[in-house]
Amino acid sequence: MSKIAVMGYGTVGSGVVEVLLTNQASIAKRAGEAVDIKYVLDLRDFPGSVIEDRLIKDFDIIKNDPEIDIVVETMGGINPAYQFVKACLCEGKSVCTSNKELVAKYGPELLAIARKNNINFLFEASVGGGIPIIRPLNQSLTADEIEEITGILNGTTNYILTKMRDEGSDFSDVLHKAQELGYAERNPEADIEGYDACRKIAILTSLAYGQQVDFEDIYTEGITKITAEDFKYAAKINATVKLFGTSKMVNGKVLAMVAPVMIKSTHPLYSVDDVFNGIYVRGNMLGEVMFYGKGAGKLPTASAVVADVVDAVKHKGKSIMTIWSEEKQEILPFDEAEHRFFVRIKDSEGIIEKAEAVFGKLEMIDAGIEGEHAFITEIMTEKEYREAAGRIQGIISMIRTDF
Ligand code: NDP
Ligand code: HSE
Repeated sequence: MSKIAVMGYGTVGSGVVEVLLTNQASIAKRAGEAVDIKYVLDLRDFPGSVIEDRLIKDFDIIKNDPEIDIVVETMGGINPAYQFVKACLCEGKSVCTSNKELVAKYGPELLAIARKNNINFLFEASVGGGIPIIRPLNQSLTADEIEEITGILNGTTNYILTKMRDEGSDFSDVLHKAQELGYAERNPEADIEGYDACRKIAILTSLAYGQQVDFEDIYTEGITKITAEDFKYAAKINATVKLFGTSKMVNGKVLAMVAPVMIKSTHPLYSVDDVFNGIYVRGNMLGEVMFYGKGAGKLPTASAVVADVVDAVKHKGKSIMTIWSEEKQEILPFDEAEHRFFVRIKDSEGIIEKAEAVFGKLEMIDAGIEGEHAFITEIMTEKEYREAAGRIQGIISMIRTDF
């Protein structure tokens, strides 16, 4: 029997306990032995809950108990998660975590400790919630050179954008609902400003190329400036707006960004709505492959964490190979990225001619909104767009397009 500890009994941690208790028999069969939760570490008390008798508040109990050989980390954040996880790995205990902040920042270091100690540091739930994507990248797509990864990687923002588009809902009302449903981060700024998606694309890109991509180096923009009007224009051209995390290999360098993108109904990620995530991967041999499922929430995320626990049990004494070195992956300057840009501009005398003079040929979109115009530019680089936009007054907003 494997004895495990769960650190953090919040949305995901309580889900991990529920999954392990509900599917006890089938999990034992697949793991090859029973999995027993010996401790649950949290700051709060949970009177009357199923874990009441296993609740502890002192991390050292877990660290110093030789019976514990697998630890689940679902506390979130860096401190003390980093110190606790590192201490567990140094003590020869495998760790399974859903904490993308931790993985994006310390992934290579923690993997190296695990490798040295013939144990495992596993983090399937850190990207895409319940969607298997880390394991496929590490194990199933290894014959390919990865040319592109583009994903809707944040459930909270996809839920908000879907409700804004379909029900005309108010941004803050839907965010509140996403928090109630357990989708949002403790500080939801991480979701709506794109930082969460940024950490996830940094993890995926690091795994795809085997080298560290620092999330601080990735251009990141959230969804706070997206409005109901943007969706009205998008609908006129059979399009919608999604928050994408994307990385592409361009001449040996990685072009990475997180930003809202206008996509047409023919795009493979167009129908990924609500809390669902979708991840599109293009390999040089395989071509295109898609991963789809619930990107946040208690049980889907817990399911991915428990799958890691099963893997850790099955691989006791053996480190599962994950190539992710601390060497830095070169990033293409974002100024060189090319798109067509959707632009809204205030109406004024001769404004269309002035816009044509700075942006070149325009594709106009009429959504019947008074006092403004909207158009899509030809393909231009970020730098060219910024310089052109600086030469004209009255720009309301801009969204990059993927067509
Ligand atoms: P919650 O805030 O719901 O749960 C975290 C739990 O850990 C809380 O009960 C918290 O206690 C406890 N905790 C915090 N610090 C400590 C500590 N020092 N010692 C003991 N317990 C502590 O977060 P989630 O479950 O939503 O998220 C956990 C992690 O999983 C995060 O990294 C998140 O990004 C990630 N994740 C979340 C998903 C989701 O859908 N929610 C999906 C995928 C990943 P207290 O409340 O008292 O502070
Ligand atoms: N807050 C995150 C999201 C949780 O909404 O996607 C899953 O990582």
